[in-house]
Amino acid sequence: MLIHSASQVLTLAGGPQRGEKLGDLGLIPDGAVLFRAGEILDAGPSRELTKKYPSEEKWNARGRVILPGFVDPHTHVVWAGDRAEEFENRLAGRSYLEILEAGGGILSTVRATRQASLESLKEQTRFRVQTMFAHGTTTLEAKSGYGLDETTEHKMLQVLLELDEEEAPDLVITYLGAHAVPPEFSGDTAGYTAHLCNALLPALAGWWSAQTSRPLPFVDVFCERGVFDLGQSRQILEKAISLGFPTKIHADEFENLGGASLAAELGAASADHLVVTSDEDIWALGNSETVAVGLPCTPFGLGEPDYTPAKKILAADGILAIATDINPGTAWCETMQFAIALACRYMKLTPAQAIAAATINAAAAIGWEDRIGSIEPGKQADLIVLNVPDYRQLGYRFGINLVEIVIKNGKFYFDEEG
Ligand code: NIG
Ligand code: FE
Repeated sequence: MLIHSASQVLTLAGGPQRGEKLGDLGLIPDGAVLFRAGEILDAGPSRELTKKYPSEEKWNARGRVILPGFVDPHTHVVWAGDRAEEFENRLAGRSYLEILEAGGGILSTVRATRQASLESLKEQTRFRVQTMFAHGTTTLEAKSGYGLDETTEHKMLQVLLELDEEEAPDLVITYLGAHAVPPEFSGDTAGYTAHLCNALLPALAGWWSAQTSRPLPFVDVFCERGVFDLGQSRQILEKAISLGFPTKIHADEFENLGGASLAAELGAASADHLVVTSDEDIWALGNSETVAVGLPCTPFGLGEPDYTPAKKILAADGILAIATDINPGTAWCETMQFAIALACRYMKLTPAQAIAAATINAAAAIGWEDRIGSIEPGKQADLIVLNVPDYRQLGYRFGINLVEIVIKNGKFYFDEEG
């Protein structure tokens, strides 16, 4: 299949974009893309490619923009129920950590998720995943973390494994048993940390290999005041690494505990949130392969003024990505297009920088930079067609869906004209 006559093809070719190099779109005006059997084979000017492949089946993009599908590298998309009441309470002045400390917040979603059957959890999650797909997300990372006991955490992971078997977006799975301290260990974070290291993580490794031949999931930890401190986060991540798990960390959402430097030291794939990160931690990230993931929907969702200091991260030569963080507490947002719009305004990224952060660098945050995130020979044919003639309308416009067609592994979705 040869797609031609796109007003712009954004290839994002050349690998993850570090520091000030962020924003190199590899833009081809009047562009074309060739793919076969779900794999990209070529990209270039329409005139050139239509001559080069004269007998290829053709599809006319009619002046619309084509770019790689969005990669959402940080989501909590599996959960049951909602937290609308908590939203009202926060509007009335209660803080997020205060609500969590009182047994609400994450713990109220834990109660609902423990109660939900696998089928119901799968149905609620499938609906959100499909919405993300319709908004252009062709691959997403998804975390457990609303079970906090072995059965429910495995139920969440099972839902993700099963949804990944269905058509549409690829799911990259993360175990977040260290999302909060479960009620069974209330007041005993050290005890739960030991339980995670001695029982839950080894059990996970065994359970996972019995379910699937996929590589082990990421292990993530919420390193935050009142949740897991730096020492406990280190314990959990070091144990995970010793068992062969790749790692990630939630760091500096509310307080700077040094989680980003820990991530860099341990070679974590990413450090995420990074709102109140110190300069020292930012430099540690800049000197590492750990991707810095900004989650602009989260301060927006919480109505808070501070966002990830993207300019500083770029000045320190960091690899910056963005994600939605979709979750029922701080950011119920399915669309990377809104994350891009916020990143432009509050992280001060240009649309080109935000797009690179949402594609090739987001792929790097989940270790998939060799498979997705750009339009280059050998990569998966995961593309989106925007119903606009200029890529800068991403970021500039918000609150509607600019993605008209999604192409996943070479297959067209939402293409009304056929
Ligand atoms: O990334 N910070 C921790 N976890 C989520 C929020 C989860 C929740 O409130 O349910 C986040 O923002
Ligand atoms: Fe998160």
